Amino acid sequence: MKKLSLHEVRSEFLNFFKEKEHLIVPSYSLIPKNDRSLLLINAGMAPLKPYFVGKEEPPRKRMATCQKCVRTGDIENVGKTDRHATFFEMLGNFSFGDYFKEEAIKWAWEFITKRLQICEDKLWVSVYYEDDEAFEIWNKVIGIDSNRIIRLGKEDNFWELEIGPCGPCSEIYVDRGEKYGCGKDDCKPGCDCDRYVEVWNLVFSQFDKDENGNYKDLPNPNIDTGMGLERITAVLQGANNIFEIEPIKSILNKVEEISGVVYGKDYKKDTSIRVITDHIRAITFLVGDGVLPSNEGRGYVLRRLIRRAARHGKLLGINEKFLSRLSNIVIENWKEVYPELEERQVQIKSVIDIEEDKFNETIDQGINILREYIEKIKSRGETKLDGESAFKLYDTYGFPLDLTREILEEEGLTVDELGFNREMDKQRERARKARAEKDSQAWDIDIEGFDIDKGKTIFKGYNNIRLETEILNIIKDNKVVKKLEKGQEGILVLKETPFYPESGGQVGDKGRLLNSNFECEVFDTKKGNKGVILHKVIVKNGEVSEGDKVEAIVDEKKRLDAARNHSATHLLHRALKDIVGEHVNQAGSLVEPDRLRFDFTHFEGLNKDTLEKIEKLVNEKILQSLNVETFEVSLDEAIKMGAVALFGEKYGEKVRVVKMGDYSLELCGGTHISNTSQIGMFKIVSESGVASGIRRIEAITGIKVFEYLNNMEKKINSLAELLKTNKKEILDKTKALIDQNKLLEKEIDNLKSKIASSKVDDIISEKVEIDGLNLIVKRIDDMGINELRQLGDRIRDKMGSVLVVLGSVKNDKISFVAMATKDLVSKGIHAGNIIREVAKETGGGGGGRPDMAQAGGKDVSKIDIALSKVVDIIKGQL
Ligand code: ALA
Repeated sequence: MKKLSLHEVRSEFLNFFKEKEHLIVPSYSLIPKNDRSLLLINAGMAPLKPYFVGKEEPPRKRMATCQKCVRTGDIENVGKTDRHATFFEMLGNFSFGDYFKEEAIKWAWEFITKRLQICEDKLWVSVYYEDDEAFEIWNKVIGIDSNRIIRLGKEDNFWELEIGPCGPCSEIYVDRGEKYGCGKDDCKPGCDCDRYVEVWNLVFSQFDKDENGNYKDLPNPNIDTGMGLERITAVLQGANNIFEIEPIKSILNKVEEISGVVYGKDYKKDTSIRVITDHIRAITFLVGDGVLPSNEGRGYVLRRLIRRAARHGKLLGINEKFLSRLSNIVIENWKEVYPELEERQVQIKSVIDIEEDKFNETIDQGINILREYIEKIKSRGETKLDGESAFKLYDTYGFPLDLTREILEEEGLTVDELGFNREMDKQRERARKARAEKDSQAWDIDIEGFDIDKGKTIFKGYNNIRLETEILNIIKDNKVVKKLEKGQEGILVLKETPFYPESGGQVGDKGRLLNSNFECEVFDTKKGNKGVILHKVIVKNGEVSEGDKVEAIVDEKKRLDAARNHSATHLLHRALKDIVGEHVNQAGSLVEPDRLRFDFTHFEGLNKDTLEKIEKLVNEKILQSLNVETFEVSLDEAIKMGAVALFGEKYGEKVRVVKMGDYSLELCGGTHISNTSQIGMFKIVSESGVASGIRRIEAITGIKVFEYLNNMEKKINSLAELLKTNKKEILDKTKALIDQNKLLEKEIDNLKSKIASSKVDDIISEKVEIDGLNLIVKRIDDMGINELRQLGDRIRDKMGSVLVVLGSVKNDKISFVAMATKDLVSKGIHAGNIIREVAKETGGGGGGRPDMAQAGGKDVSKIDIALSKVVDIIKGQL
């Protein structure tokens, strides 16, 4: 057995299959592309599904990868055992209708026994119980004793996901020796004990399973194999489990160092150490692929992992933030194979730090609430937390269900998971509805009866905007038709086209299709399946028939404007990396003739200075008149040249590279101008945030900048006119106006307070004396309750001994205020009782303390009568 390291096993595998003429491509992103059935990539074959089912042409019929995978199905067991993991790398070789069982088995055997030099007498295999063909190959071609070929049922030897390509499989097991076994007589592969480890799964992918569980034959039988890199490395190194192999062990050691806890002494502490060691890999790789924590979908998986790891940190007694320190170990050790980790190091750290901080803020609060729930449950003699409460903990305090479950378990309690799931479903349904609304704008291109075998449309639009071609198909209302009449809308498929179909953020071309009998307007162009290009048209004149010759003419102005914006987008992307940092990555892009919109990963808004710098740099590159070249190379070469590739984007064997001088190099299929000077000018019109960690820049180019600046100038001119000045002095004049305004405001305040005090004096002069008591009763309209109170205060303060009762009608509402000085209160005057009776006269109510009270009234016509009652009322009080 060769004692290889994790990285060596990976290279050995990929090199081996390269020799067998497989195309080796780097791991695809953990985020599935155009695959709603999957939250995260969980097997090497997952990103390749379209090739298996024949929906897309693979770049080569043989491929091999080492794929990043995340599986969270049994997250609860992660940490508790040393076998479970959420993140792992899967080695896999694939055949799309090329070789089948015999080669797959032969090569797997050759790799295991010759390259990895695992002794044949340690190896066992299993086959699907009905698969005699595989049995024969193992037995006759490879020469394995039939006693060592186990036939197993669907449970073990039929590989499938929820939906998608699947089939019977054959597995290779390594016997680790009796000491790992259960000792039973019938112990062999398939047994629950740890003796026989399954290392490689060869799937003979023959079916496509749909959402209803029906299996359809695939057009070609395929091969899909999967070997867990960590597991096979552990076997080769004679390690007991994956936590003992480097570089995973160095993560574990760092956890020990940070926590001061030594591994291997206490089961509970070991569990926490394993949870953190495992989760930090998943966390780092997920963020590296652009996943951000959220309450939904894959964002929630990430949140759950971060929170679970953080909590286990607390259980180990770690009191400070520690996860991003650990993620550095992951980046350090895996960056050579996964350069995206280093490129996104800043982002990875920020995302993890922010999430850990957030969790630390809410965890104590959440734990207190959970403690209260626990006490309640116990005091009622119950053992289960209800689903709604668990969901509230999740929704409000970010407590993943497994965390709640774990804490409850420590108290011997459980949680109503069905109830929790019901609440979760309700929330998902809300989210799904929101998504469905968004998607309903997508173009349905699964057309009934559409003869896709006529081949893909030849796209000639990089060098042409006009060409003669032929109409292959006409589609109307999702059905193939022979004709389209004047006024009708439909979709046309042409043999060749100069029309660029919407992709990579660039909108589809518009234009016209003509011949002597008809004229069609093309108002959108999109991609259909298998490279067919769909032109959405309306017939303006005449009648269109299948087979007609046609002249296809792209709207040149729109195309050129879109090209300007597309090329400017590349310059902007590069400039952002230069000025803001290499961690900036494209998160979305829209290229239209009128504007461009670019979403990118960054943690805070860009200030004006930064935006100006970016704008200036892009304009400098425009003025440098850089030549724009496009060429095709292999993905490897492109990456070696330093081309910016988008993560998660699927690239074929040959990729198209767009190069602008020595400044920008990007993989891109879009249409571009031929020299940056054609962009004219670049202007950012807005910068904003679209989601946590994602910023958006909107910008314009070409003539739009001219229009924008002209518009601005017009506004400035109008402003100058309004201010009766010229453009030069507009700022000084505006400043002077603002200052003047401030002075005026001050003046008004002074006047107001003068008026108010003279009002007070006027009112005081109207006082009457009742049995030696100073009484003021006054109606002053248009005052609200606060103003009345202030006025009352002033009168009271100025007079020293008085009962003031004020009433006011403002906007058809009556307010009353009554105030009595202390001396009068001691004589029996009660402002609250007075005001209650006064207000009652108008159908209102209110009251208050003896010295101060307020009330509202209803019937405006009665306010004077009400106020006139005051004298009688106080006579009753004295
Ligand atoms: N797709 C197979 C697996 O994941 C190879 O086990």
